[in-house]
Amino acid sequence: MLRDSQDAFGHQLYDLYKGSRVIEIVERDDGLIDPSESLPKYYLADFKDWTPREKLAAGYVHGRVLDIGCGGGRWSLYLQKKGRDVLGIDFSPLVVKVCKMRGLHNVMVKSITEVDSRLGMVAHNDPTNKEASDHLRGKSRGSGGLARIPEGIGLSQGKTSESRWQGR
Ligand SMILES: C[S@@+](CC[C@H](N)C(=O)[O-])C[C@H]1O[C@@H](n2cnc3c(N)ncnc32)[C@H](O)[C@@H]1O
Repeated sequence: MLRDSQDAFGHQLYDLYKGSRVIEIVERDDGLIDPSESLPKYYLADFKDWTPREKLAAGYVHGRVLDIGCGGGRWSLYLQKKGRDVLGIDFSPLVVKVCKMRGLHNVMVKSITEVDSRLGMVAHNDPTNKEASDHLRGKSRGSGGLARIPEGIGLSQGKTSESRWQGR
């Protein structure tokens, strides 16, 4: 779990949700500094405003879903509305608070490194997050190998024989 002083993304989404003007400033390793007022809003966007690629990907989601790094919960909320059995997790306490305020039923503060195969289905859409991707592919130290996901695939599914959302 992130400490409050580490939770810049959580503060950004929380302040935006509460009505403040928010500008996200991303600094990349190559030195590019990219301020954006629209990106934070996208994290709370409704399905109708998603990219065509995301809309297409949403059509491939079946069964129970574990949304790792759920952020403001746009994916989980969309899938919940569609009647899916969805659990959102994020290591930011503040985004989890935002998800709850937005009406997400099943959401918890949890890092991807705490996830194991008992949690079952995987919906992870940030292949740029190396820690997360390595964990999912069973490459990281101590990883139980949550799922076998080919390189480059950001949305995948797996089944578990364990009972529903153990460990919550
Ligand atoms: C770029 S945001 C994407 C949010 C959401 N999936 C979406 O598409 O709108 C990435 C999210 O992953 C979370 N995150 C990053 N590393 C994580 C980790 N190791 N464990 C759990 N959550 C993590 C961040 O707190 C953030 O909410």
